[in-house]
Amino acid sequence: MSEIDALLTENRRFPSPPAFQRVATVSDAAVATAAAADPDAYWVTMARQLEWITPFTKGLEWTAPFATWFRDGQLNVSTNCLDRHIRTARRNKAAIIFEGEPGDTRTLTYWQLYIEVCKFANVLRSLGVRKGDRVAIYLPMIPEAAVAMLACARIGAIHNVVFGGFSPESLRDRINDSQCRVLITADGGFRRGQVVPLKRNADAAMTDTPSIEHCVVVQRRAGAMSEETHAQMQDGRDAWWHRLMQKAPLQCEPAVMDAEDPLFILYTSGTTGKPKGIVHSTGGYLTGVTTTSRQVFDLKDDDVFWCTADVGWVTGHSYVVYGPLANGATCMLYEGAPDWPDKNRMWDMCERHGVTIFYTAPTAIRAFMKWGEKHPNQHDLSRLRLLGTVGEPINPEAWMWYHRVIGKERCPIVDTWWQTETGAIVISPLPGLTETKPGSATHPLPGYSVALVDTHAQPIPVGGGLLTITRPWPSMLRTIWGDPQRYVDTYFSKWPGRPDLYFAGDGAKLDDDGYWWILGRVDDVLNVAGHRIGTMEVESALVGHPSVAEAAVVGKDHELKGQAIAAFVTLREGFTATSALRDELREFVGEKIGAIAKPDDILFSADLPKTRSGKIMRRLLRDIAEGRALGDTTTLADPSVVAGLKEQYEAQES
Ligand code: WTA
Repeated sequence: MSEIDALLTENRRFPSPPAFQRVATVSDAAVATAAAADPDAYWVTMARQLEWITPFTKGLEWTAPFATWFRDGQLNVSTNCLDRHIRTARRNKAAIIFEGEPGDTRTLTYWQLYIEVCKFANVLRSLGVRKGDRVAIYLPMIPEAAVAMLACARIGAIHNVVFGGFSPESLRDRINDSQCRVLITADGGFRRGQVVPLKRNADAAMTDTPSIEHCVVVQRRAGAMSEETHAQMQDGRDAWWHRLMQKAPLQCEPAVMDAEDPLFILYTSGTTGKPKGIVHSTGGYLTGVTTTSRQVFDLKDDDVFWCTADVGWVTGHSYVVYGPLANGATCMLYEGAPDWPDKNRMWDMCERHGVTIFYTAPTAIRAFMKWGEKHPNQHDLSRLRLLGTVGEPINPEAWMWYHRVIGKERCPIVDTWWQTETGAIVISPLPGLTETKPGSATHPLPGYSVALVDTHAQPIPVGGGLLTITRPWPSMLRTIWGDPQRYVDTYFSKWPGRPDLYFAGDGAKLDDDGYWWILGRVDDVLNVAGHRIGTMEVESALVGHPSVAEAAVVGKDHELKGQAIAAFVTLREGFTATSALRDELREFVGEKIGAIAKPDDILFSADLPKTRSGKIMRRLLRDIAEGRALGDTTTLADPSVVAGLKEQYEAQES
């Protein structure tokens, strides 16, 4: 039985536990019914719960595929996340509980976070940053990452957070594409006991980023950096964060932002070699993340919410920083690896910090499973009351393990489907209401219009198809930075004449009960350990190596990571296929993009299977990489190529 069939015969059901239901924020299905009847009015009601400087009079305005929300309203995201709370008893409540990998901890109350943000916002202004300017953030998971983001929001600068695992080249390209004036980084961060030399990477990137005027450097741990990672400061350009903060005034007037002003740009992989700068708005984005955080995570004043995502990804933006803080929640921030120094690190932290809500990726759950129950079982996890997953389909087996071993069969699980582009969760159970099935993200949340369609855009009530969103939602991306045409082409052009249909790039199934089962990407985007990587990005990295003539990259099933990268490489004349060259190519991709993009397998081949018109047959390469019988090869220019490749691949594997 294939995995998909197995999913669809999954008939275990888990109703919301009564104890949870009694106190849940959403426990009445009437919300969903009302939202379905008039989604635009529903979102207007949700948006009114934010603090507006100038209240809006418009809701959705839509000329497909472009939409605006609350266009004439004005607000500031940082005042919604901070000033609102410091006027209340939340003033002294923990906003951020931070733990570094070496074990250092810091807690910032809402008041302290507010002061830090105001001060850093003043620092940015003193460096000449103005409303609408772009600021790059390349930091470890430390409180300064949230401070920097909120400080940008305070003065109306657009942040561009780049994941600390990306290479100097990736950082450089993201800075240049959005023309950032300031880069905020750290001397280093800790990962598996090693120092990640962020400033050194930043220096390498800044050799070719003409728009950067200043670089602010956080001293991660005084004295902890070795000689070689110690940051070299360039006079006139680089300055230490703590020095700048010493002189910064404590008050900072928030910028008055239009609802449609961009809040941030976040780059994500697409089907071409060049990542897309996804642009998110101020008012709509905040409405989406605030509403979904409250509903899906059921945030209460005494919760400790731990979303394990890095701020370099959208999950870190929406559910480490903006959504929880807008709700006045307490968030955990952890810098390091889940298995450092031991495989019980996460559970140890849950116990020590009294975590009540835990949100992570299936790839992490599969790793926890593999490491064994003994690690979580050493810890008192009785405070946990809600579990969540995001980033990739969760297999029922991992779901059940999470439910039993971590949730002790008491905690609802919210499997949340969404994307960088959607800004906020779209499909997910409501934990006080929805009966869950292991492996299903269940139903769209209130206010979203999601439809499964066939290749002709016809709705499919039951069965498999393509996931589309049929009406704009407030936190949807507004455009791709500098490339509005690519926005139209990528998301709204799959069906000519239907610019109203947002195509998510995912395949899904609807079962007889109307439950959604997300099957994964249907385009050339891989999902490796919950991280999006374009096959073209890896291919263009590979062909950048002097030895490579041609490369084709596909995803193959992987027990832990969901998908792993397999590359088929044709070498140029004069180069010999050796295992040393294979290692060199893996490292090369790591240097070009980042360690997450290193292929697991590289197969050298004199030829790649191509159609007579010269198109590489990726389907066949996937068959080979996954060890399947070869599909139809009759359209190939030279069918013998693929049989040879398969033999070679299998020989290499064994
Ligand atoms: C996948 C991460 C199945 C999907 C928030 C989507 C999921 C891509 C789920 C977006 C889920 C995300 N079940 N698949 N619950 N959540 N995905 O932009 O393929 O990094 O298109 O956003 O992850 O990845 P992104």
